[in-house]
Amino acid sequence: MKAKIKVIVPTVLVVAVAVFIACRWDVWFHNSEESPYISERTPHRVLLTFGDDSEWSRNVSWQADTMLFPSHLELVQLPDGDTINIDAYGEVFHSRGGVAAYYVARLRNLQQDAHYAYRAVTDDEASQWYEFHTYKKDDNFSFLYVGDVQDTIGGRANKYLREAVARHRECEFVVCGGDLTERPKDSFWAETFRDIDSVCQAMPFLNITGNHDYLKGIKLALERRFTLVFSYFLDSKVDDNHVYMLHYGDADIFVLDSNRELPYLLAQRSWLKAKMEQSTAKWKILLLHHPLYSTLGSNNIFQRWIFGGLVKEFGVDLVLQGHEHQYARMTNHAEDGTPTTPVYTVSHCSPKNYRIHFDDRFDKFGISSRYYQTINVASDTLTMATYEVYNHTLYDSLQIVKTTKQSVVRDFGVDIPEYMEFTPDPNNKRDRAFNERINDYKMRHPERLTK
Ligand SMILES: [Fe+2]
Repeated sequence: MKAKIKVIVPTVLVVAVAVFIACRWDVWFHNSEESPYISERTPHRVLLTFGDDSEWSRNVSWQADTMLFPSHLELVQLPDGDTINIDAYGEVFHSRGGVAAYYVARLRNLQQDAHYAYRAVTDDEASQWYEFHTYKKDDNFSFLYVGDVQDTIGGRANKYLREAVARHRECEFVVCGGDLTERPKDSFWAETFRDIDSVCQAMPFLNITGNHDYLKGIKLALERRFTLVFSYFLDSKVDDNHVYMLHYGDADIFVLDSNRELPYLLAQRSWLKAKMEQSTAKWKILLLHHPLYSTLGSNNIFQRWIFGGLVKEFGVDLVLQGHEHQYARMTNHAEDGTPTTPVYTVSHCSPKNYRIHFDDRFDKFGISSRYYQTINVASDTLTMATYEVYNHTLYDSLQIVKTTKQSVVRDFGVDIPEYMEFTPDPNNKRDRAFNERINDYKMRHPERLTK
């Protein structure tokens, strides 16, 4: 009998693992085909972003044709500066469905509080003229944050993003928490640029890596075109880690690539620790795709184990995250119960919502909409406001105030009711379970639903 058990148990385990892998094969390893495409000859998909030299540096990337031609960026300081030609770095990238040439112009030593016009030139073709303004260095600035966008072809994110930017003219740049593009295919890149077009030429657009930006496989692979578009990574990445740090006003914004395997995450930890040790900024903001405190159960434990300690040790104020396709905000508490930093925010702006779990350590959830945040830094106060995109109503609000003792979080979101609208498909087991979790949550926290 014992001999039989010794054979049966391992066999059952092996079969169970094999079935599990077979069920997850497509999710883990399958990349759907990229349709053939032909790159336009005229410079297009023009994107303004930050450089890696100083807070007065900017990069502009664009795409044009399928082979390299002499290319430059024409830059004019308005109203009456001379036109300066800045040589562009070019690189041809072959994807699975086609080929395109990408260019990056590095703009350095720009003047603060200055107005510039520029256009991208490749061979005898030029983009239209665009304009941008550099910020005035003081202790007051705002930016707009969006979590995963991952729009479908012909989706509506472009409408929401443009409306958000138009309503928040105070924002000086846009940050995306990864998975801006649904998949690494030209058709989805076209959709991404349709979404961010007209915003990303006038305001620096900062994006981080999400899992959807990678090609799946035994070893994940980030396509070179991601780096060529979000071109600060060309200069900032360390080995194969897409990390970056932006110093802006009184803040340091640290960018991690949380999608990677364990050895890469450990290398990023060393990079982050060194950068944080050097940082003298009043405000520290961390950007990574995977939430350190997951709303999907016990996910992301490596990310929390590796980065979570540094976040607290170095007094990170705000952690901006995505990936889990709902809104969730958690505030740390001091030993005496005072709400304090770090504040952890999970947000998304995509057409799909996940069936999350309602961990009571979170202060607030949103499951019925898409969201974006405005973050304002003004002297000793950081204000984060969360809006839902459909009618741009305020959904959550807090302030982090730096006192001589510690940072204190003022929670105004408690006065804004949560929406927990969900219509389960009665034939869908996961929907039914999620609906039960929602009802449990409503029973535990009736005060969060009505004000
Ligand atoms: Fe994701």
